[in-house]
Amino acid sequence: MIEFENKENSAEVGAEIDESIQGQPMMVAPLSNGSKKLYLESYGCQMNFADSEVVASILSENGYSTTRNIDEADVILMNTCSIRDNAEQRVRNKLSQHNKRKKQNPELIIGILGCMAERLKKDLLEQEKLVDLVAGPDAYRELPSLIQEVETGQKAVNVLLSREETYADIAPVRLGKGGVTAFISIMRGCDNMCSFCVVPFTRGRERSRDPESIVAEAKDLFANGYREVTLLGQNVDSYHWNITKKGDVIDSEKPVVNFARLMELVAQVDPKLRVRFSTSHPKDMTDEVLGVMAKYHNICKYIHLPIQSGNDEILKKMNRGYTSEWYMNRIKAIKRIVPEAYISTDIITGFCGETEEQHQDTMKLMQEVGYEFAYMFFYSERPKTLAARKFEDDIPLEVKKRRLNEVQDLQHNLAFDAHQRTVGKICEVLIEGVSKRSKDHLFGRNSQNVTVILPRENYKPGDYVNVMVDEFTSATVSGSVVK
Ligand code: SAH
Ligand code: SF4
Ligand code: F3S
Repeated sequence: MIEFENKENSAEVGAEIDESIQGQPMMVAPLSNGSKKLYLESYGCQMNFADSEVVASILSENGYSTTRNIDEADVILMNTCSIRDNAEQRVRNKLSQHNKRKKQNPELIIGILGCMAERLKKDLLEQEKLVDLVAGPDAYRELPSLIQEVETGQKAVNVLLSREETYADIAPVRLGKGGVTAFISIMRGCDNMCSFCVVPFTRGRERSRDPESIVAEAKDLFANGYREVTLLGQNVDSYHWNITKKGDVIDSEKPVVNFARLMELVAQVDPKLRVRFSTSHPKDMTDEVLGVMAKYHNICKYIHLPIQSGNDEILKKMNRGYTSEWYMNRIKAIKRIVPEAYISTDIITGFCGETEEQHQDTMKLMQEVGYEFAYMFFYSERPKTLAARKFEDDIPLEVKKRRLNEVQDLQHNLAFDAHQRTVGKICEVLIEGVSKRSKDHLFGRNSQNVTVILPRENYKPGDYVNVMVDEFTSATVSGSVVK
């Protein structure tokens, strides 16, 4: 989700998840207590970044401080992503660079965490001999003892998935720059079985985190100057606490918390704390959630609602659990209940058996919705998934890529139109930092998640300002402050 060295750029392409989905590493900010040095790199989605903050917390309790200087590292940990083949290739290239370093410094410990660790288990350690340590997403509490094992000359592996682990009691060490925006993991795993997707295999079963610990984390962030939290889950709409998935209350003495209620609890922490969330699933997103969004000014008017394909046959093969008609109904509900919301999506081109007509259905749906932003990918077959077992990956790479180019071109025009419509309007911007392109400008985002550039004057990160938009590109808008 985020390339932290270059946060503004990642924000400028629309939303932070983009960079990480591309598999860019994010380096962490230095944390200075502890004598041993940890160099931690994160690839993949926002959830991985949030996990790295848990890892940094666990290891800082055990005598480690993080460093940005790889030359002084005692331990290198890579928190990895398996979502597409190219995400894994990028990690492999980096791993071989780290191994060259290890030849010079045999004491150096190299470990792999996250989804690739879970997917490949012992392979990277035993067959490929690329790492000393492998820890899956539910094994981070064991990291101090796994590192100790390696220090005594053994290889260490823990890839057990859990049905309960949510790391609810661990206060993440904030690694992002800026101190204005932060992620809060509200659940882990995924119980959907989208046929193309590796996540259920790498992250295990879905489980929700105790709402009290979520609200406490939001309060703590606010007290420390943060002004925006993003609630994270693979399918936030299925968050449930003290209630079964069917809706039966478990303990009548205790409060029931679904996602709508959770979002409301977080929004009530302070009107100056913005709330975002990701990702909504079209089959589960309720009008109740939209109603809560409309009710609170500080819940940002932006919904990421991945469609994947606009064709019903493909959606069925993807096992997404909705039709294009159902999806368009959800879009209508958003436009009715939260009319000012911007909507973004994820698209996969060239899924198994996709015809030109089916691809055209995706383009038509994109146009009909008029997405303000989209993350677009060509299909990458992942081992063991339902699609890999049941369908042939039969669309030639050039065709997948050509279709991807077509959806990207279309999206570029849709974003351009959306930004054009903001010209002459006033929006509230939360300032996040200094613009990369000019020291005299700041950047932030409006409620709709559009990156806004404004003159620096005396404003600072964390300030809310009203900006009158006067210029735009397909990536950002800019304007001046209205006092
Ligand atoms: N939980 C989220 C998705 C997380 S993965 C949801 O259900 O929407 C983020 C995006 O990566 C997906 O929405 C999908 O568009 C893309 N993706 C996942 N698996 C893929 C694959 N095998 N090939 C190409 N893109 C994929
Ligand atoms: Fe993957 Fe589907 Fe779960 Fe999203 S909802 S993480 S695409 S299985
Ligand atoms: Fe990648 Fe795992 Fe996230 S596969 S997208 S890091 S859940």
